[in-house]
Amino acid sequence: MSGEKEPAAGAERPGASVPAGARSALDTTVAHSARVHDYWLGGKDNFAADRAAGDAVMEAYPGIVTSVRANRAFLARVVRFLAAEAGIRQFLDIGTGIPASNNTHEVAQSVAPDSRVVYVDYDPVVLSHARALLTSSPEGVTNYIDADLREPSRILHKAARTLDFSQPVAVMLIAIMHLIVDADDPYGKVAELMAAVPPGSYLALSQVASDIETERMAEAARRYNRLAHETQRHRTHEEVTRFFDGLDLVQPGVVAAHEWRPGPQTVPGTRSGIWGGVASKP
Ligand SMILES: C[S@@+](CC[C@H](N)C(=O)[O-])C[C@H]1O[C@@H](n2cnc3c(N)ncnc32)[C@H](O)[C@@H]1O
Repeated sequence: MSGEKEPAAGAERPGASVPAGARSALDTTVAHSARVHDYWLGGKDNFAADRAAGDAVMEAYPGIVTSVRANRAFLARVVRFLAAEAGIRQFLDIGTGIPASNNTHEVAQSVAPDSRVVYVDYDPVVLSHARALLTSSPEGVTNYIDADLREPSRILHKAARTLDFSQPVAVMLIAIMHLIVDADDPYGKVAELMAAVPPGSYLALSQVASDIETERMAEAARRYNRLAHETQRHRTHEEVTRFFDGLDLVQPGVVAAHEWRPGPQTVPGTRSGIWGGVASKP
């Protein structure tokens, strides 16, 4: 990569986005987001290239580890809110990641055992862990789809085998949208998913911020984009809020992940450079 023009802060590397549907076999020589994320969470499903990219980001933005942990806690609070307060029983979790603690079906089924959960990811390592995600309660269902967020119609077609799209569905896009560059029409993809679910459905979304600790974040993005398979596109609060256009944001709106309805388990002093929010479809 040396000699390449530096991308702008948090910006895309022109032409570096991997085409939708062009999934490859396991490549351990280049960092992949699922495995770098696993490294930051203290997991074991990562390789030297993932750890090198993870360390490079950590040097630029030391808050990354607390951020991804705060994001996992956000995910658990959101699923609990959706199952316990919003009465949601169907979840479409796109960009699942390598299983960690408090996976969506575990939280949802601890509240409502009949919850139905479809996981979607395009990473072969996540696919290899699918069995761990398919441990449903007897009353509920979990399923796994190996697919790309940039092909929503394929996801919706396959998810319809498990989810009833005449009933409310929570579309979960947690810590994935910063991996969808502008050229891949991120707003259009979210709109396509939300058009397929009925009123009373929800969108839960979080993504890395470009306007929290701006300079450090920008350097972190430059480093990651030099070393990784996917290109990161960090976004401002306004850009993240735009994903919820046409939906009704639940309180407190789009906030830093640790500020979204903090619970008794939220560790004081926790901070995150990730915007997150939840909204219902009117
Ligand atoms: C940062 S991890 C987030 C994992 C989990 N949602 C969480 O918040 O803890 C991002 C995940 O999105 C997946 N991902 C990235 N781009 C994707 C795409 N275009 N389609 C499907 N999955 C994608 C990666 O493989 C990775 O597992």
